[in-house]
Amino acid sequence: MASTSRMGVIILAAGQGKRMHSSLPKVLHEIGGEPMLFQILHRIREAAPDAPVAIVVGHAREMVEAAVRSCSAFSAMNLTFVHQPEQRGTGHAARCAMDAPWGNDRIAEKGSVLVLPGDLPLISKRLVEQLLAPLGKGEVLRLLTCHLTDPTGYGRVVRRGSRGPVLRIVEEKDANLRERAIREVAVSIYSFQAAFLRFGLHRLSNKNAQSEYYLTDLISQAARAKKKSEVLIWERAEELRGINDPWELAQARRILNDAVLKRWSLQGVKILDTQSTWVDPSVELASDVTLYPGVLLSGTTQIAAGATLGPGVILRDTIVGEQANVKAGSIAEKSIIGARVQLGPYAHLRPESEVGEDSKIGNFVELKKSKIGAHTSVAHLSYLGDATVGRNVNIGCGFITCNYDGRVVNGERKHRTIIEDEVFMGSDCQTVAPVKIGRGSYVASGSTVVEDVPPDSLAIARTRQVTKPGYAKKLRQK
Ligand code: UD1
Ligand code: MG
Repeated sequence: MASTSRMGVIILAAGQGKRMHSSLPKVLHEIGGEPMLFQILHRIREAAPDAPVAIVVGHAREMVEAAVRSCSAFSAMNLTFVHQPEQRGTGHAARCAMDAPWGNDRIAEKGSVLVLPGDLPLISKRLVEQLLAPLGKGEVLRLLTCHLTDPTGYGRVVRRGSRGPVLRIVEEKDANLRERAIREVAVSIYSFQAAFLRFGLHRLSNKNAQSEYYLTDLISQAARAKKKSEVLIWERAEELRGINDPWELAQARRILNDAVLKRWSLQGVKILDTQSTWVDPSVELASDVTLYPGVLLSGTTQIAAGATLGPGVILRDTIVGEQANVKAGSIAEKSIIGARVQLGPYAHLRPESEVGEDSKIGNFVELKKSKIGAHTSVAHLSYLGDATVGRNVNIGCGFITCNYDGRVVNGERKHRTIIEDEVFMGSDCQTVAPVKIGRGSYVASGSTVVEDVPPDSLAIARTRQVTKPGYAKKLRQK
């Protein structure tokens, strides 16, 4: 048998989240660029990387499991999925984990178990660390509470007198008017002594307004049995926002985004409009970066010092070099933009594109799987797909790489275009791939190049002009 652990974590994530009105299970709704469940897993990974973690899943469990397994950040964690076949309440969910081999074999009797709901994505690492601290001598639980100006929807903390010991938690649907006025709430986060939790869960009843087994009832069990417990009152209530509907999710996303923007702002990032700028927690920004209104940055995006991102720039998994200027409306995904590059307005870098230092990619230019060398200019209205372009190249307006001819050759659907250093491509040219334009060559405007061009050559691939003097006048007189 695997050795038992002194600290386990149970995440309750089996509910459908009816109030989300969505086919996506609640814990997979996105905040900060990831499912909300991931935010909690990140904090646990940071605070207790080795702790055995049970994720209780039920509604759309295949989807939840697949999502968690697809994230490499969690692959080194000790995660177990526990199935709750029917959603009979938070107490029932915790019991599913404790009765499973996970709870029976992995968690020491004297150990403790942290229980968290999957719908509290704003909790901090600091809070998780405090929750994971060993319980005091003889204590059977630690209850986390906070004070809210609007406690609607939360379980209220009923104490003896106004400040005495906690007697029980009453769910809003079961509370009387006096209890509803209480502003101290429970947020479904507790640390339990494992033996107390295992025993108590078997004694829960579902005689309440929702006919559910409430985990919160363990608090009154402990109080009645005169067991020692601890209350952790958390001052930063905004960390403890539970997500139950899309509006609460929207508010939580704003809180998270504000925190991210504030952190970067205090490190020298200039954000012109914090309302319309969205930066995922995973993004890295250097000092002296300027973000204009409407910038959206996500994934593994990194922006180096002094770069400017103009209005409406959208970058995903993209690296931007120092002093680069990404102008209005440009979009890039899985791409690299070199130092001092001028890009856009309205440039589109599709995945696996790379623009070398000091180059210029102008308006309405689309790149796909293309590498552009340093000091090169693709200034207007062009498409480069599957192309390798060298240094000091000038590509005139309206250039197109014809990279697809509808056939599959050697397993490749798309063909490569190679344009070597110092090439000058006149305006309105096309190259039909596979094709190579040798170093230092010129291609005349309006050419359609179908054959390789050796270095230092001039390629003209258009019909010769015929000029008939006076012919237009003659036509008009007809
Ligand atoms: C719960 C608490 C309430 C607290 C609030 C904070 C109980 C009885 N109530 O209420 O005191 O103020 O959270 O947000 O605990 N879940 C399961 N299986 C179930 C039921 C729920 O896994 O059978 C999971 C849900 O997926 C969710 C979490 O438990 O992640 C909380 O469930 P939810 O229905 O949101 O509980 P609340 O009504 O918010
Ligand atoms: Mg809830």
